[in-house]
Amino acid sequence: MSGKFFVTTPIYYVNDQPHIGHAYTTLAADVTARFHRLAGRDVFFLTGTDEHGQKVAQSAAQNGETPQQLTDRVSQNFRDLTKLMNYSNDDFIRTTEPRNVAAAQALWRAMAKASAPNGQSAIYLGSYSGWYSVRDEAFYDEGELKDGPDGTKLAPTGAPVAWVEEPSYFFRLSAYGDALLALYEAEPDLVAPSSRRNEVKSFVKGGLRDLSISRTSFSWGVPVPGDEKHVMYVWLDALVNYIAALGYPETGAGTKYARYWPADLHLVGKDIVRFHTVYWPAFLMAANLPQPKRVFAHGWWTSEGQKMSKSLGNVIAPQNLVDTYGLDQARYLLMAEVPFGNDGDFSHASAVRRVNADLANGIGNLAQRTLTLIQKNCDGAVPQPGEFTSEDNVLLSAADGLLDKIEDDIRQQAFHEVLRSIWSLVGNGDGYIDAMAPWALKKTDTARMATVLYVLAETLRTLGIVIQPFMPEKMAQLLDLLAVPSDKRDFAALGAANRLKPGTPLPPPQGLFPRIVEAA
Ligand code: MSP
Repeated sequence: MSGKFFVTTPIYYVNDQPHIGHAYTTLAADVTARFHRLAGRDVFFLTGTDEHGQKVAQSAAQNGETPQQLTDRVSQNFRDLTKLMNYSNDDFIRTTEPRNVAAAQALWRAMAKASAPNGQSAIYLGSYSGWYSVRDEAFYDEGELKDGPDGTKLAPTGAPVAWVEEPSYFFRLSAYGDALLALYEAEPDLVAPSSRRNEVKSFVKGGLRDLSISRTSFSWGVPVPGDEKHVMYVWLDALVNYIAALGYPETGAGTKYARYWPADLHLVGKDIVRFHTVYWPAFLMAANLPQPKRVFAHGWWTSEGQKMSKSLGNVIAPQNLVDTYGLDQARYLLMAEVPFGNDGDFSHASAVRRVNADLANGIGNLAQRTLTLIQKNCDGAVPQPGEFTSEDNVLLSAADGLLDKIEDDIRQQAFHEVLRSIWSLVGNGDGYIDAMAPWALKKTDTARMATVLYVLAETLRTLGIVIQPFMPEKMAQLLDLLAVPSDKRDFAALGAANRLKPGTPLPPPQGLFPRIVEAA
């Protein structure tokens, strides 16, 4: 297997402390990145923070800090999150870095030189009057608004909006509707899941308005080249991060841009689909740059059945998850609880059930039973198998076929399906150990016992390798317990050619996943 894979997360606003919603998008990207690395691909995994705009400026003012102080402080929390959650990102970009500012200005210049599909200039100076939500950093049409308390207006997201009137540069988005619809037709995988694709198509079919892309009423942003009274609309300098991190505007042979662009996957939450599948593709068209291959929008987490909010005090901090369940257990829970793309609820009771059922009683128990029997009855070394029976071959071929079964689901971001397939192999292993009863064979047929334990150890080797993207530390421990050499832990090592070597000494078994016992 070869090729490259460029996966990105949204860059996070620095007005907020990281919570599970943020941890989630980056975790999905991390699982994807680790998977493709194990498959031998040249991966670039990017995350970062979105530091300009009115929202950050306002939060800083409320805290009595300068925007720079606030962004330095909060951006650090997001960098700490990458360590806490063991993300394997290759870069972390901040939109206030010179490389992002330079890329945003270069993209602006490229768009400013361009003509829109209707022949008019892609960017023009005008004046904006309309509704703006600072919380969403988004413009809304009058028709989209709902009535709020005391005659106020609210965005469809529930965020407050304010009337804005100021000189502004515009991007001629209205001229890009047909080109965008043609793009969605030509690239059916670009917007996923399909429910989002339909939503985006009908939004574009409804007609697009030109987009205000600069502001003059505050200064915390990237200056517009040639007219420095204006700062760019924060979403423009945010979206550009995906190419800024690759060194844009340097795009020649040998650059990171040439190696990794277009992105193979932009992972986003459902709230920011429009920015990534309408604005971003239109900006790229104007600048004559290739389109990303796929934008996948996941759903939102609630906490114990309710929307997470500071006032309800139910915001789940990633640190809390890790402290309560353990790092890899937390990673597993977030990926297994909810079909990726759907909304989901995080509840402690359900998390405890899942850790106990899938991890402690599932793979943990299978590993513990197998390794303890090997330790006690096979001199603590990989057993010597005899000839395989049809039952053995059924389990071994299920293990050998596992990667094939899940590759497509990884490409579709169906992480829960991937885990379901993997855990069905755990179930096969459980069924096999119960049916073969190696603990009984030790009295009647030690050669057969050795074969059964070998088949189980091989199944665990496969599980250890394939589960690594989800639970890297625990699976490294499992592979250590099986004495799998460190250069034989990638997907190329799966299958018959790299089976465990009989006679290899194994370390004493250790439990991988303790059961969570709740005080009554
Ligand atoms: N800064 C923009 C993104 C710019 S990308 C060029 C932004 N930042 S954000 O911090 O508000 O949100 C980042 C991501 O976190 C979004 O994908 C959003 O969907 C996700 N989540 C925020 N709260 C969430 C939940 N409660 N559940 C799941 N994901 C959530 O938008």
